[in-house]
This record gives sequence, C-alpha cells and structure tokens, in this order.
Amino acid sequence: MSTSEQLIQRREAVVPRAVARFAANATADSANGAMITDADGREMIDFAGGIGVMNVGHCDDNVVNAICEQAKKLTHGCIHVSTYEPYVQLCEKLVELFPHGDKGTKAMLVNSGAEAVENAIKFARQATKRPAIIAFSEGFHGRTLLCTTLTSKTGYKSGCGPFAPEVYRLPYPNQFRSGRELDSAAFVERELARLRDAFVSMVRAEDVAAIILEVVQGEGGFCVAPQAYLKGLRQICDEHGIMLIFDEVQSGFCRTGKWAAYQHFDVTPDISTWAKSMGGGMPISAVIGKTEVMDAALPGTCGGTYGGNPIACAASLAAIESMQNHDMNSRAIEIGTRVKQRFEQIRDKCNWVADVRGLGAMQAIVFGEHGKPDVPAPVMVRQALDGCIARGVLAIPAGAAGTTIRVLSPLVITDEQLDRGLNILEEEVLKAVAAIQHTNGEAPAKQPALGVRR
Ligand SMILES: Cc1ncc(COP(=O)(O)O)c(C=O)c1O
Repeated sequence: MSTSEQLIQRREAVVPRAVARFAANATADSANGAMITDADGREMIDFAGGIGVMNVGHCDDNVVNAICEQAKKLTHGCIHVSTYEPYVQLCEKLVELFPHGDKGTKAMLVNSGAEAVENAIKFARQATKRPAIIAFSEGFHGRTLLCTTLTSKTGYKSGCGPFAPEVYRLPYPNQFRSGRELDSAAFVERELARLRDAFVSMVRAEDVAAIILEVVQGEGGFCVAPQAYLKGLRQICDEHGIMLIFDEVQSGFCRTGKWAAYQHFDVTPDISTWAKSMGGGMPISAVIGKTEVMDAALPGTCGGTYGGNPIACAASLAAIESMQNHDMNSRAIEIGTRVKQRFEQIRDKCNWVADVRGLGAMQAIVFGEHGKPDVPAPVMVRQALDGCIARGVLAIPAGAAGTTIRVLSPLVITDEQLDRGLNILEEEVLKAVAAIQHTNGEAPAKQPALGVRR
C-alpha cells in the first residue's frame, strides 16, 4: 500500500465522512508555487489551489517570512482584549483596496468565509432593523447553520435542518440554464421582474435586510452575473433600503483579473465578504462595508476570539504585497485567456461540452451528455478528474450536479505547468467521454490521438 493510501486509510478511521473529499485519492505533503508534492513524493500540478485559496502560490517566500517573523513577536492578541498593529494595518489595506462608496469604509476580520458571511448578515440586519435575506439558487456561502441555509445545493444540506428562518431564494441570473432563447436585455428584465414579484409573493421589500450573491458563483460552477442585472439589483436595493452584499470569498484577490470581481461591473456593494486567497494560505476572512452600515452594529455583536489573528494578518498583508509586486491581476487575465482557449478547443473536439464560462482566471468547462445542457454528466466528469489525479493534475469539479470542471490554479503557475496540466485534462476528458460512449454502445466521440502536446 502506498503512503498516500495508508494516510487515507488512517483518515477514514478517525475523520467522519461528512468531511467530504473532492479528490478521492489526493494527498499533500509539501507544496511550492503551483506544485504540490504528495505523501509518496509525487509532484502534482495544482489546478485547485485548496479551493481557490492559493492565488499567491504555495509557500510564497514573502508570506512564509511574514508568518515566521510575526510568530516570534505575537501569536495571539484577541482584538476584543488588546489592539495590535497587524489587525489595524490589514483593515487599512482592505479599505484602501475596496472602498465601498465615497463616504468611508470599514472592515472587520474573522477566520473563514462562512464566518464572514454570518457577520455580514448581522451587520445588514442591524443596519436595516429587518430580518429577511434573499439568496440565490446554486449559491454557496459556507457550512455554518445560517450559511448552510443560504447555500442552495442540497448535497451540502442533507439532514442538517431545520434551517435558519427568513431566508428566501431566487434563481441565479444564469441565462445558460434558463433563458437561452432570450436576448440578454430581455433576460435581465425578466430576472429583475422576478425579484420585484418576489416582494409581493414572497417577502415584503420593507422586511428585507439584504440580498446576497456571488458576482461569479464559485461552487455553483463559475456562472457570471450579467452587468445589467447587477446594476438593476443595485437600483432596487437603493429604492428599498436593502443592503446589497457581494460574496467575494472565491472570486476575490486577483482571481478574476481585478482585486474584486465586482470591480469589473462598476457596481459597488454595501457590504462584501472575503476569505480564501486573502490569507495566502492562512485562515483569515473579512467583512468590508460602508462606514454608516458597519457602525450601525452594536459593540459585542460581531467578532470572535481568534478573528484577525496576528500571524494570519501578517500573512495576508504579505500575500497582498506579493500580489501587487507580481501584478497578479494581469497574470490572471493571461491564465484565464489560455484556459478558456483550451476549453474552447475541447469543445471543438468533443460534443459533450455544454458551456465554457468564467471571468479572468476563474474558468470552467461545463459538460452535458452529448452537449445537452439539461443532461448533466457527473460520472464522466468524475472519471476524467480521477484520470487527471492519477497523472499528476489535481483538479476539482463544481456545479450543483458536479458536471463542471473548474480551474483555480495558483496565479504563479508557469505557462509550461499550465499547458502540461491542460494537456492532461483534455486527454482525460476525451478518454472519459469515449469510454462512456463505448459502454453505452455508441460510436466513440470524434477525438485526436491521445498524447498530443501543444
Ligand atoms: C463564495 C463562497 N462563500 C463562502 C464560502 C465559505 O468559506 P469557508 O469554507 O472558508 O467557510 C465559500 C467556500 O467555498 C465560497 O466559495
């Protein structure tokens, strides 16, 4: 038995299966840049980034040094007990990067994406003195009870109820799923009308504290909300005094080619949530919001013992510095263009591709049997991803039906590593499609010889 297999066996003996595994047999022992070395010493090209955490790259020197230096100085302070500089300095940096309007912005720090979302809702409820929240289908916001409620995919929720009250849900403005026959203006109009109708049929606008959405859905499969829809949401929120919350946990910190995905759309939220790549690998998250909104919350209602741990703050400041020094927003655009081109080539070669979508380096390829968007192909996707792992590419699925493959590689990935990973991904997809068609007694899909290198 390999060391990886032994490790997984030990895991299974002591870790509950509820802590699920995206990638069945993957292990990690050490990592650098975009490469992970597994427990057997095998090198893997990282297309997952620990689910979008490693934009700055694994063990970035600047981040590691900052962690070591801070660890020698102060490992814990608790911001409720004493004020320490790394917390304040990081909040200063965040409000500089993400001004929420021109009347002042404030930030607070916690430990995970879910905690950021929980606290964002508390700020919105206190600022509006209203209870209700509107969330979206295919949205993912974390695994605490409120965040599980806000999350749409039932696979994340089974048996976890009863869920938190006063959460209402609308379809995400995903034209690919429902509305391909409409032009984009008519589609957006229909979706905004749906929201206005919801104020009559579901929950009164005067009872809604916040509308929360991911500008680019992460777990939902990299759907990008149309700009006109986001502008419409902004207008409706302003009309009714509703807080607009953008969850940037997966899309933030250079992933889409800007610091925030919303910065592509010229729409500013009242509150936003951040985590993952913000910490360069350390657990830290943030809620950022307009000063008047953030200051409406009463002392003691938000925060926690560990939120904004000094080592995590130092790591985050160093990660941001590295992102700036290496112009990772530009690199994200280059990576995204390269991945998208390759996904489009796969679509040309294989009739099981239903969609290619994303923003910047947040790119996904969506599969459906024979390219039919309404017939997901999770078995084929699983097979292709298992094939990738066996050949040293760690990639993960997305989408409620597990029919999407997403690329969230570190942004320090070299072109050679990226192309090598994409070659393997392409080959494994074509192999999996051919195998499934063969099992079903169909002629194998049109495909090039395996092993083709670009
Ligand atoms: C958009 C979004 N929000 C919130 C979360 C929850 O973050 P965490 O797992 O750190 O609690 C995630 C995690 O994938 C996410 O993608």
